[in-house]
Amino acid sequence: MGRKIEQLKIPLINKTIYLDNKVPGLILDTIDNLNLTAKDGRKPILCGKKRTTNGWHLIFNLPPGISFNRVKRYREYFQDAANGLIDLTWNGALQMTIHTGRLPQRLPYCWEPEEYTKMSLPAPVGVSHGGPVLFNLTDSPHLLIAGVPGFGKSNFLHVLIHSLLSKALVAIIDLKRLEFAYLGSHAALARTEAEALALMESLNREMERRIGILEAAGVVKVQDYQGEDMPYIIAIIDELAELKDDRTMELVDRITRLARAVGISVVAATQRPSTKVLPGDTRAMFQARLCFQVADELNSRMVLGESCPLAAHLPGIKGRAIFKFGIEEKEVQTMFLPLKQAKAILNKNPVRAWNYEYQAKRLLPR
Ligand SMILES: Nc1ncnc2c1ncn2[C@@H]1O[C@H](COP(=O)(O)OP(=O)(O)O)[C@@H](O)[C@H]1O
Ligand SMILES: [Mg+2]
Repeated sequence: MGRKIEQLKIPLINKTIYLDNKVPGLILDTIDNLNLTAKDGRKPILCGKKRTTNGWHLIFNLPPGISFNRVKRYREYFQDAANGLIDLTWNGALQMTIHTGRLPQRLPYCWEPEEYTKMSLPAPVGVSHGGPVLFNLTDSPHLLIAGVPGFGKSNFLHVLIHSLLSKALVAIIDLKRLEFAYLGSHAALARTEAEALALMESLNREMERRIGILEAAGVVKVQDYQGEDMPYIIAIIDELAELKDDRTMELVDRITRLARAVGISVVAATQRPSTKVLPGDTRAMFQARLCFQVADELNSRMVLGESCPLAAHLPGIKGRAIFKFGIEEKEVQTMFLPLKQAKAILNKNPVRAWNYEYQAKRLLPR
């Protein structure tokens, strides 16, 4: 009889640990098997756990002698054990968010920002395991996009342009000359080196003009300025590495350093932002990063920072990327906007809130 109970008990215990609590149990096993202990034998202690809509949130206290960074180095082991994706953050305790759901492989373009947010320039990044990801471009205010060809850099630029066209003046440098041609009457378009230089020069002039106006009015940022209409400006550069002219690059650098307060953002896409393409100091001005598939961890770190090799291990799905802004670091599926749909949207929304003719004259290449 006693034996029978024992036989029953063992599977029951297993059940409570490995079925109801399967994922937390696997994480604890991983900690054991990795020998993640301090010298005195103490281990991270699980002190909180909660189910989320697509996984788990676990909280660990770390004993003295085990640092957050040490645990972070083992992220891959935890991910493989839990068969999901794991975000690790630190706020006095180790916060481990485990996502066991899968992201969609294709996400059609659909954007009604009014439903989500009152941000001044809401940029839709896509969906992550935690739901929609968007950020305020005025906060960053520059965005760097990278990744090997064919995974969605240019498509993301189209998404961004269409999402923000009604809220900002858009200037585009497209030395490949074809991708953005259809936006010719909605944005200031530069398609040769000479036009790119002229565009950057006029953007710099506009920046100086605005800085002068804000200075005279005694305010520190465009959001606080009550005078003339001063719309946000977004300068989009596709294939940054194609810009070979030193003077043009100097002006890009100048804008990224000085334009934050006056409402001018730069969004640049390039296959890999080596120091030849984008000197380290300029790169640092791009606080938001979106990295599609890259060749190796070195490239991932170049784009997303020393501590982030993740873009080298993306699943090879078009439109899949790692988004990094501040401490946020997420895998996202970006929206897909085919050219035909992009054109249809333009035809449907010909009217802008601001006086395009007047404003664009200052920006158009002369
Ligand atoms: N978010 C996405 N979802 C699905 N397919 C995409 C997505 N982005 C891009 N693609 C596909 O990949 C192709 C290449 O994308 P593109 O934006 O031109 O890449 P890149 O500019 O990085 O070379 C597109 O023609 C499209 O078919
Ligand atoms: Mg492209």
